[in-house]
Amino acid sequence: MKNSLAKKAITGFLAATMFCTASVSGFAGVATPELLKANAEEQKVIYSTDFEDQDVSAFDKRGENDTTVLSASTDYATSGEYALCASGRSESWNGPAFRLDDKCEPGTEYYVNAKVRGKYYSQITCSYQYSDSSGDPHYVNLTNGSSGDWLEFKNLKVSFSDDVKDVYVYFEGGTDDIYIDDFSVVEAPVIPIETDIPSLKNVYADYFKVGTATTTMELAPKSTKNLILKHCNSLTLGNELKPDAIIDKDATIESGDFDNPLVNLSSVRTILNFAKANNIPVRGHVLVWHSQTPDWFFKEEFADDGEWVSKETMLKRMENYIKNVFTALKEEYPTVDFYAYDVVNEAWTDQGTPRQPGQQGSSGSEQSAWVKVFGDNSFIDYAFEYARKYAPEGTKLFYNDYNEYMTGKMDAIVEMANRLKEKGLIDGIGMQSHLDVRQGNDAFPSIQMYENALKTYTSLGLDVQITELDATVQSNSESSFEAQAKYYSDLFDLYVKYADKISAVVFWGTKDDTSWRASQYPLFFNGDYTAKPCFYSIVDGIDYVEPPVTEPVTTTTAPVTTTTTPATTPSLEVTVKGDANCDGATDVADVVLAKCYLINGTSYSITEQGKVNADVVGEGNGLEIQDVIAIQKLVLKLIEL
Ligand code: GLA
Repeated sequence: MKNSLAKKAITGFLAATMFCTASVSGFAGVATPELLKANAEEQKVIYSTDFEDQDVSAFDKRGENDTTVLSASTDYATSGEYALCASGRSESWNGPAFRLDDKCEPGTEYYVNAKVRGKYYSQITCSYQYSDSSGDPHYVNLTNGSSGDWLEFKNLKVSFSDDVKDVYVYFEGGTDDIYIDDFSVVEAPVIPIETDIPSLKNVYADYFKVGTATTTMELAPKSTKNLILKHCNSLTLGNELKPDAIIDKDATIESGDFDNPLVNLSSVRTILNFAKANNIPVRGHVLVWHSQTPDWFFKEEFADDGEWVSKETMLKRMENYIKNVFTALKEEYPTVDFYAYDVVNEAWTDQGTPRQPGQQGSSGSEQSAWVKVFGDNSFIDYAFEYARKYAPEGTKLFYNDYNEYMTGKMDAIVEMANRLKEKGLIDGIGMQSHLDVRQGNDAFPSIQMYENALKTYTSLGLDVQITELDATVQSNSESSFEAQAKYYSDLFDLYVKYADKISAVVFWGTKDDTSWRASQYPLFFNGDYTAKPCFYSIVDGIDYVEPPVTEPVTTTTAPVTTTTTPATTPSLEVTVKGDANCDGATDVADVVLAKCYLINGTSYSITEQGKVNADVVGEGNGLEIQDVIAIQKLVLKLIEL
């Protein structure tokens, strides 16, 4: 798989370096100037004013108790004579607010620009706010600055999802008058993605699905949507389908039936509508987890300070919760293919013991409220029982975990999986695969350690999916990215080797700058959507051939009828068995080429020598599908020829 890695890696690295320089100013909400310049002509202006017409009607004060008075003023201005003046402010949160959701589209990214100052020296903050589907307000800081003069806030990124309302960008700080000039909201430019590189989902089409996890905010730029459409045929919701996102506390309290936790799918809309519109199969994530599950879910009457409920009560809640999730998904997204679902996540410690009982508390807490209520990990079997009972037909049920290569944890997972398998309750193991390349020679886990885990899980007779793949590096340097490319290449060699047991490889995030481990550059694409060296390392050497769109390429033994191949020229001798493309080696490129040729011999040609080489079964009778299957097995080292 590494034939042309060196050459491609250099190209990829240059792109990586360029991006990293441009983003030094920090990702948080700020677009790179280079990208803006390059795409300036594509920007669509949603609203723009220099206040010279003295019209401030597009701005509101922030609620009834806000004493702010908004007017056009000649006190200060950066362009022309007028600026907006917010006077009469009595609290620091008072200030001018500009409504976005009546002018902008959900699921799209916009940039806000403004020049801002206080009357005297002051700190001014620019933020945005929205109300969620329960009406609860949320506030997100975009930027701030201190000055006795004009500050320029440029290209502050905002986006919002389908399920929120009352979305405003607003300015606050101190209680002095605040002035705004040259205010605009523009649609983010669409940064072109690389269309001339192979599509990951097509490159690996014969082996497994290639997917990504995304959040609503990450999906907002059109370019991210384009990147996913090009490379992925599996989608995971990063946060939106987790218990804390969908359990409807208020509705359940209102119903008075705490045994029946109601769910509200408003958080999933943006992503699931995208999946639905584009027919992208979805990995459901996740039903039962110690994290991102509110403590009140385990308390009497959903009260934060309530008593922990009994195991019997929790079982009813768990069953009804799982039932309600699947019912809602089936009702609201009947055409979305939830081909896999994480039923339980991260129940075992690295030592293979249940987690400590306790409340979830702050994020990152290792304690489990499930263990608190059940006393042990016996909740796992119930979760799978209920999931099996209510999941849509065809949804494969998974146990998912990180550090899945640690011996203690692996033993516990294997024991659990065997037990659940015997009961017919589990279909697969999800290896999260949050990995660390470090300097390469000290990667954790090592490729050997990882293969050991892969071998263990693939021998269980269950499906295996790589569910949250990312591999961090220590620095933004050529050597780090080379080590990362090598590590990923080795990993994908393993995935191909065990491909008959692996149905999906899913990355946790689309590109480095929006990854949860952004400072360690763990993914395949730079923030500017260019492919990194590691991307090339997993496609190079596969000699990618775009499969014909009209005919699905499968690995089954189904007869291929479209092309009859003439018998090979008898006078030629086999040079390398299976080497259809005559490059001196037999690898997956030969499998792809031979298969494409059989399916569509007019678009894909093989030399006479290639046909002789590829005619590995019943030599002399011409290239047939049996030859392709045999070459594939040869490449996977399942047979020798
Ligand atoms: C775990 C979880 C995911 C996600 C990542 C970090 O792996 O399974 O849902 O929260 O951590 O982003």
